[in-house]
Amino acid sequence: MSEIEPLQIVVIEGTTRVQRLSIHAARLVEEIGRGLPGIEITFVEPGDFDLPGDGNDPEGKDPRYTAITEKADGFFVVSPEYNHSFPGSLKRLLDSELENYIHKPVAFAGVSNGGWGGVRAIEALVNTVREMGLTATFTDVHFPRVQDIFDKDGKLLDEKYRARVERTYTELIWMAKTFKWGRENLPR
Ligand SMILES: Cc1cc2nc3c(=O)[nH]c(=O)nc-3n(C[C@H](O)[C@H](O)[C@H](O)COP(=O)(O)O)c2cc1C
Repeated sequence: MSEIEPLQIVVIEGTTRVQRLSIHAARLVEEIGRGLPGIEITFVEPGDFDLPGDGNDPEGKDPRYTAITEKADGFFVVSPEYNHSFPGSLKRLLDSELENYIHKPVAFAGVSNGGWGGVRAIEALVNTVREMGLTATFTDVHFPRVQDIFDKDGKLLDEKYRARVERTYTELIWMAKTFKWGRENLPR
């Protein structure tokens, strides 16, 4: 593995809801990632892609998302909790690929307007991503009562969340480096 080649980390915002607040958390994760050495961030959201049908057959993919996942070394998914799970648009996006996820790490941030910080969305995501060949980090980030953490323009009001995101990035990047080396150097 080349030491100078930056790791490719894909930050995914998990909903297309017009009045979504989780976008503030996702933009914070993006901003922090862009400030870290040795990684490149691609920001994506389900609404960016043309995925009218279900599945991961050729006609069920968007080539732009295929290209992003192909070069990805890791993912950081920021998801609100909807009805004790994660949004259908995020499931549709994730479902559209498979091989490009295998033996890559994923970190999660959960977002809610109540006190749980999207914990049940993350629990549901962990089950789903394992079937896709992704490996979840040990640490998550939770944004409970998101309306109190960011102002209406998305400005972070509570700096402790920055350290929590950085801690999860530290683990994600370690896993991304390790898995990249493994994919490139060990038989699978
Ligand atoms: C369809 C729907 C279902 C929701 N279900 C839950 C839930 O099960 N648990 C929870 O803590 N918050 C739930 N919420 C509230 C979200 O936590 C809240 O909207 C928060 O701002 C994060 O989502 P957002 O990015 O859509 O704003 C739900 C919101 C919507 C729109």
